[in-house]
Amino acid sequence: MGRPLVAGNWKMNPVSIREAVSLATAVRNGTRGVDAAEIAVAPPFVALAAVREALAESHVALAAQDVHEEERGAFTGGISAVMLRELVALVIVGHSEVRRDQALSEARVNARLRRVLGAGLRPILCLGEDLETRRSGGANAFVAAQVRADFEGVSADQARATVIAYEPIWAIGTGVPATGADARDTIAGIRTQLRALYGEAADAVRVLYGGSVTAENVAEFAGQPGIEGALVGGASLRADEFSRIVQAFAGARR
Ligand code: PGA
Repeated sequence: MGRPLVAGNWKMNPVSIREAVSLATAVRNGTRGVDAAEIAVAPPFVALAAVREALAESHVALAAQDVHEEERGAFTGGISAVMLRELVALVIVGHSEVRRDQALSEARVNARLRRVLGAGLRPILCLGEDLETRRSGGANAFVAAQVRADFEGVSADQARATVIAYEPIWAIGTGVPATGADARDTIAGIRTQLRALYGEAADAVRVLYGGSVTAENVAEFAGQPGIEGALVGGASLRADEFSRIVQAFAGARR
């Protein structure tokens, strides 16, 4: 198992580039010396260039929150993977808020994943079931189907570069995380599906948990075998709390 990855998804926050730079700087300072975990932050598009400068030569990587599936053209507001290549190392693909707001099909998520990989960037592919699916006992089958659809046409070599964030929709921004055991079991199911598709190459895919992770509950996830990091929303906007989450994953693997 590789180093865990802890990524902060800032969503539509903060509202100024100046604040984004100071948050990034605080994350860099708060996690200085931590090398047992890989760290990334995903600011809004407009702050990427400034945050990139603030994080230059640091151990904190930069991620984008979304990407268009086309490379160029008449797609007002679109940002393509080749554009992002100048700015970031990682790109979040198919976050549930984006799936909802853009009414994304699984086919478009797949197209975005392939664009990001084609541009030589590392995707953080988000997937996960809604509450109804969880309650009806269909979560494992649902996420397995998402993995099959999202990885269609993705080679084993490309798959190796991919990070998956298992994010049950009902746990995102609700303050109600999955239990560590449920997250571990669902992630084990994702891993099984990946092995069916890619054999041994599947073991290089890092699988994170996301959904209401905080400094208080992080131990529940960092201690689980097979959970290789976290995608953190709300708690990533507080540099001290985010740093504690990073440290929990770094410490759990030592
Ligand atoms: P949350 O968001 O930590 O605020 O629940 C997680 C995410 O959306 O990635």
